[in-house]
Amino acid sequence: MNNQNNLQARDSFATRLGLVLAAAGSAIGLGNVWKFPYITGENGGAAFILVYLICIALIGLPVMVAELSVGRKAGKSTVSAFKKFAPKSVWITGGVTGVLAALLIMFYYPVIAGWAFAYVFKSLFSGLTTLSPEGIGEFFGNYISGIEEPIFWQLVVVIITCWILVGGVKDGIEKWSKLLMPTLFVILVILVIRSLTLQGAAKGVAFLWYPDFSKLTMHGVLTALGHSFFTLSLGMGIMVTYGSYVSKSEDLSKTAIMVTIADTSIALMAGLAIFPAVFAFGFEPGHGPGLVFVTLPAVFSKMPLGSIFSALFFLLLGIAALTSTMSLTEVVVAYLVDEHNWSRTKSIITTGIVFFIFGVPASLAMGPWAELKFFGLNYFDLLDYFSSNILLPLGGLLVALFVGFRWGVQGAIDEVSNGGKIKSSFINLYGFVIKYIAPVLILIVFLNALGLLDKL
Ligand code: PFF
Repeated sequence: MNNQNNLQARDSFATRLGLVLAAAGSAIGLGNVWKFPYITGENGGAAFILVYLICIALIGLPVMVAELSVGRKAGKSTVSAFKKFAPKSVWITGGVTGVLAALLIMFYYPVIAGWAFAYVFKSLFSGLTTLSPEGIGEFFGNYISGIEEPIFWQLVVVIITCWILVGGVKDGIEKWSKLLMPTLFVILVILVIRSLTLQGAAKGVAFLWYPDFSKLTMHGVLTALGHSFFTLSLGMGIMVTYGSYVSKSEDLSKTAIMVTIADTSIALMAGLAIFPAVFAFGFEPGHGPGLVFVTLPAVFSKMPLGSIFSALFFLLLGIAALTSTMSLTEVVVAYLVDEHNWSRTKSIITTGIVFFIFGVPASLAMGPWAELKFFGLNYFDLLDYFSSNILLPLGGLLVALFVGFRWGVQGAIDEVSNGGKIKSSFINLYGFVIKYIAPVLILIVFLNALGLLDKL
């Protein structure tokens, strides 16, 4: 079986559309629909969005191109790719941090994805949107601190993800991304139209579009920088792994630009689906994680056919999460296949079991195990903090430095321009940005995550 694996041609994306949708599917996730709206709400709306867009352009896009090019050049997933370029060196850390981050994120991400799927049914059949706003808050608190139900839905997410991946790249990831991403888009358009046509929606639009710089703090700027990593799925080898499934004729910078635009547009659209409705019914925008699971059902409860819109919203959230869990799982699976010669099926089953076993405490941390703290954080928050704030920036920093100083800008540009065939002003600027600008900015995010900039 192992030998057979090695001899088989590497599975790959069949079409550019498939690649773009799969990479966009990875990028578009809870970060866009759940996190982006509430951090925008907390940090002053449009002023924050402006900074976020600059971060996406200055570090997100170049690092994505860097990751895709490392993966395609090596033809290997993340750890093996670094090994191939720089055998027996510390650069392998760039790959190891990615696999580790994917593992840790997959311990907690399916918990929230599971809530989303559960809420589809709660909206339709449990009268969620008939409760009072206080009742909805209480319902959420009781639900997430429960034991069997959230764990059941978490398991469902892990199983569906693994089942899709068994199909491979072309017949699993690509096929499902082509179905799920357009579905997600259609649902989002319906919700944006509903939200924008409510009386009083204009206030929410103003909140998103008129910058109030007095509300923007240094903390907000650093949040924007950090989020640009998480939302684009960078720093953890996903784009390296996906890059290894891309044909040599593909235009990598074009792919990355399309993925970045799709990710940013969906985040902004999610804002447009949420804030106008929140303001129209007189709710407060900056509501932390509860914005989506408490404020929104309360908003839906005030509109005709609210239960249907609520179910659609949570389906959107669930789908967005699922296309991201596919990519997170693929990083670990591809690592086991490439590095340890395991069969794909064995890798997927083992990975799924590990995700579930180490994921259960993340669900319990919302209830019975909430007081179990490590470094002052419960298990769920610790996983989120360590993976998003430490491992992702570290992984991104290593990729940027690797491309800028080890592989060398010339080699990287050669790969990105397909041997000089593609010419663009982006490619001309790319070397400077990846070598100097991106590493400095990422270093700032990293130092901030470690608490070393608190005194500034
Ligand atoms: N980009 C996804 C989101 O915005 O929700 C989350 C994510 C997926 C982060 C995959 C990192 C990752 F590797």
